[in-house]
Amino acid sequence: MGRLTLILLTSTLLSSYFHPGRVVDAQSIFTIREVSLSMEPSNDVPRDTNVTVRCRAVVSSLGQEVLNRQYTILKDRVQVYTKTTTSSEDLLYPLPMARAFNSGKYTCQIAIEDKREVSKYQKLTVTGLSKPELHLNKAVVNEGEEVTVRCTAPGETGSIIFYFYEDSKEIKEEQVSSNYAETKIRFTSTGIHKCHCAYTVVVVPDAFRSEQSNIVTVSVKEIPYTPVLEILPIYKIYEGDTLDISCSLRRPQYNSQSTQLILSQGTQLLSSGTKDKLNHSLVALAKHSGEFECRLEIGNVVKVAKKNVSVTELFSLPTLTMSPVEVFPREPLTLICKSESLASERLHKEELTYTLEPSDAYLIPRGAGVFQGKALNADFNYTCTATAKGIMKQSKILTVRPKLPVSAPKITVLSKVILGRPFEILCNSSTGTLPINYTLLHDYMPMDMITVKQPYEEARFTVTITRTDDISKYICQANNGRKELSRRLDATVIVPLSHPTLTVVPTLGEIYEGDHLYLICGVQGTPPVTFKWYRVGNENPLYSTTSNSNNTDYQVKDLAKHHSGMYFCEAINPANTAVGSNPVTIEVRMALWKKALIGGICLLVLAVLALLFVLYYRSKRGRREAAAELSVKPSSPKSDDSLRLNLTHDTEVYNAATVRVDRAVTSVWSERPPEAANDEETSMMSNEPDVEYTEVVHTRAVDSAQVPLKKGTDTVYSELQNAPHGATDPHDYGSVEYAELNGEKPEINHSYTEVNNYQDLPVPVD
Ligand SMILES: *[C@@H]1O[C@H](CO)[C@@H](O)[C@H](O)[C@H]1NC(C)=O
Ligand SMILES: *[C@@H]1O[C@H](CO)[C@@H](O)[C@H](O)[C@H]1NC(C)=O
Ligand SMILES: *[C@@H]1O[C@H](CO)[C@@H](O)[C@H](O)[C@H]1NC(C)=O
Ligand SMILES: *[C@@H]1O[C@H](CO)[C@@H](O)[C@H](O)[C@H]1NC(C)=O
Ligand SMILES: *[C@@H]1O[C@H](CO)[C@@H](O)[C@H](O)[C@H]1NC(C)=O
Ligand SMILES: *[C@@H]1O[C@H](CO)[C@@H](O)[C@H](O)[C@H]1NC(C)=O
Ligand SMILES: *[C@@H]1O[C@H](CO)[C@@H](O)[C@H](O)[C@H]1NC(C)=O
Repeated sequence: MGRLTLILLTSTLLSSYFHPGRVVDAQSIFTIREVSLSMEPSNDVPRDTNVTVRCRAVVSSLGQEVLNRQYTILKDRVQVYTKTTTSSEDLLYPLPMARAFNSGKYTCQIAIEDKREVSKYQKLTVTGLSKPELHLNKAVVNEGEEVTVRCTAPGETGSIIFYFYEDSKEIKEEQVSSNYAETKIRFTSTGIHKCHCAYTVVVVPDAFRSEQSNIVTVSVKEIPYTPVLEILPIYKIYEGDTLDISCSLRRPQYNSQSTQLILSQGTQLLSSGTKDKLNHSLVALAKHSGEFECRLEIGNVVKVAKKNVSVTELFSLPTLTMSPVEVFPREPLTLICKSESLASERLHKEELTYTLEPSDAYLIPRGAGVFQGKALNADFNYTCTATAKGIMKQSKILTVRPKLPVSAPKITVLSKVILGRPFEILCNSSTGTLPINYTLLHDYMPMDMITVKQPYEEARFTVTITRTDDISKYICQANNGRKELSRRLDATVIVPLSHPTLTVVPTLGEIYEGDHLYLICGVQGTPPVTFKWYRVGNENPLYSTTSNSNNTDYQVKDLAKHHSGMYFCEAINPANTAVGSNPVTIEVRMALWKKALIGGICLLVLAVLALLFVLYYRSKRGRREAAAELSVKPSSPKSDDSLRLNLTHDTEVYNAATVRVDRAVTSVWSERPPEAANDEETSMMSNEPDVEYTEVVHTRAVDSAQVPLKKGTDTVYSELQNAPHGATDPHDYGSVEYAELNGEKPEINHSYTEVNNYQDLPVPVD
C-alpha cells in the first residue's frame, strides 16, 4: 500500500511538474446525467387528490464536494416553484387538494453552477370541478326591481367564467380571476323565475366546465301602476291632421308613490311631468310616422306603453327636373316641379301650388309646376316648394350647369410625319364642357372618334399616309352638342430617301489624269439630306455635307492615277433612313496628250515603213521607168498604192523630194526616239500640211497592232490595248448614269455597252 501511495504521489508530482498549467479544480468536476419528473400518485387524478410532483436529478461528481442545486418547476412554461438545495435527494413539489386549475404540462429544470438540464414534460390532468353555488339576496321582488345574484365555485382557482341563467336562458356572463362572481338582474316580467349558474375554468389551451348550480326561484310581484298611451285619431291619419296624444298613469287609489311620466317619439322628447296625465297636440307630418312611447318611472321600476302611428302623405316630396337635360347658355330651358303622388281622397290637384326659388330666377311660371326661360351663363341652383293645406315641402337642389360650347379644335401632329409610317394626330379644343367627342375626318369622311371625358385626357389618332398631299386632307371635329371643325392639318411630310444614285462627270471611261471629277450624289426624298461619299475600303467618308437640295456633288480636282477605285455615296434625312448608292468604279486613264503623242509616233513609224516599201517596190521596176511615169502623171498615185502622197512640188522637186523623204525617214529614226517626244513635236507633226496620212492610219492601224513594234514603242502599244479594255470593264455597274461631258461627244459604241449593262442589272431598291 505504502509503495502504491508513493508511486501515485510521485506521478502526481511529475505530472504537475511537466504540466504546470493543469490545476485540478475538484469543485467543478460533475455532470448532470439525467433529470426526470413524475407525478404521484398518477398523471390523471380526481379533484382533491394530494398530488406530488417529483423531480429527480442524477448528478455524477468526484466525491464529497457540495453542489448547489437550483430546481425550477414550470407549468405550461411558466415558473411555478423554485428551490435551491445542496441535498441530492429528489425535489418534491406538493399540490395538495389538486384542482382543475392544476392541470397542465409540468417540467423540471435543474441548474448547478453554469450547467443546466431540463426534464421531459409530464401532463397532469385533474378531473372534476366543484358544484357551483347560487345565492340571491331576495326571494321576492317587485317588477322592475334589481336582484343581486352571486355564483361561487368552491375551492377552484385560476381564471373562471361564470354564467347566469334565468329560466334556462343565459342572461349574463362574467369573467373573473377569483372563485365567485356577482351581478344584478332586473326581471322583466312578473311571476316565478328560476335561476341557476355554472362556470368554466380556463387552463389554456383547455377549458373545464362545471355542472349546474342549485336552482333558486324568485317571485316577481306586479306593481299596480300602469302607463296608458292614447292617440287620437286612431285610423287614417293624414298630414295636417291634429294628433291628440295623452300619456297617463293608472294606479290603485290607496297608493301614492311618487312617479314620473315621459312622452316621447324616437329621440324626440315631447313632454314629461310628475302628474298623472300628460297632454300633447301636434299637426301630423310625414316624419311623425313611427312609435310613440309613454314611460312611467317609479324609483328603479320602469314601465312603458307604446303605440305606432302611421301618417299618410297628402302629397309627396316634389322633384325638380329640367328639360332638356343639357343646355348651352341662353338656350331655352324648362324646369318642372312635381309631386309624384297625391292623397286624392283628401286633396285635389288644384289645391297644390308650386313655387320656384329663388323667385327672381329669370324663369316664368307656365302652368302648375312648369317654369320656362333661358339658361344663364353660369351655374345656378334652383329649388321648388309644393304647398297645400299649410304643408310645405321643398325639393332637393337642382343645379343647372350650362355647357360651354367647344372651341374650334386645334389639329396637330405629335411626331414627325414620315411617309408610310404611323404617326399621331392630336385634336384639342381649348374650351368646351366635357365630354367632347373628337372625330378625325379624312376628306370629310369620319375615320375614328375618341370621347374625352376627363380633363387632360387626349384625343390621339394614329394614322399612316402614303401620299404627301394626304396630310392636308385631315380635319378634326369637336362635338359636345355644339360642333366645331379644325383647320386642315398642316405638317411637313418627310419622304424617306430612296433611289440613291452616284453620277460621275465626266463620263466613265473618259476620265483622264488632270481632269476635274464630279461625284454627284442624288436621291429621292425630303431634304435636308446629309450626303456622304465613301471610297470602298475606307471606313470614313471622304466628305460629308448636308444639303437642302436632293442632290449635291463632291469634287476631285486634278485627278491622278491613284484616284482610281470604287466609290459610292450615302444619304440620310430626318426619316432616319440611310440609303447607299451602288458603287461606281472609276478608272483614271492616261492623259489625252500622252495618247496623242504615242499615236503620232506610231503613225510616223507606219508612214516611214510605207514609204520605204514604196521606194523598194519602185526601185525594183527601175528608176527610169518610174521617173517617166511620174513625169506623165505627177498628181495621181497608183491605184494599188495604199499610200496616197499629195506632192505639191514639180518633177524636179520630186527627185529632190525622194531624196528628202529618204533623208527624213532616217532623220526621224535617228534624231527623234519616240520616248523622247514632247507635245510640241507631236502637234508639229500632225499639223504638217503637205502629207495626208488619213488612209494610212485607217488601214495600217489594224495591221500594225499585230506587227511587233520596235523596242521603243512597246509601252505605247500596251497603253492602247488597255484603253478599250477599261471602257468595257465588267466592274462598271449599270446603275451609273452617264452624264454628257460639256462639249465632248460620248463614244457611241461605249454608250451602247453601258445601256446594255444597265438593263442586265437589278433595279435599285428604295
Ligand atoms: C391531503 O392532505 C391534507 C393535509 O395537507 C390532509 O388533511 C388530507 O387528509 C389529505 N388527503 C388525502 C386524500 O390524503
Ligand atoms: C288633458 O286633457 C284632458 C281632456 O282630454 C283634461 O281633462 C286634462 O285636464 C288635461 N291635462 C292637462 C295636464 O292639461
Ligand atoms: C311599431 O312598428 C315597429 C316597426 O314596424 C315595430 O317593430 C314595433 O313593434 C311596433 N310597435 C308597436 C307598439 O306596435
Ligand atoms: C349650389 O348648391 C351647392 C350645394 O348643393 C353648392 O355647393 C354650390 O356652391 C351652389 N352653387 C351656386 C351657384 O350657388
Ligand atoms: C388642350 O388645350 C388647352 C388650352 O389650350 C391646354 O390647356 C391643354 O393642355 C391642351 N390639352 C392637351 C391634351 O394638349
Ligand atoms: C359622343 O359619342 C358617344 C358614343 O358614340 C355618343 O353616345 C354621344 O352621344 C356623343 N356625344 C355627342 C355630344 O354627340
Ligand atoms: C429631286 O430633285 C430632282 C431634280 O432636282 C427632281 O426631279 C426630283 O423629283 C426630286 N426628288 C424628290 C423626291 O424630291
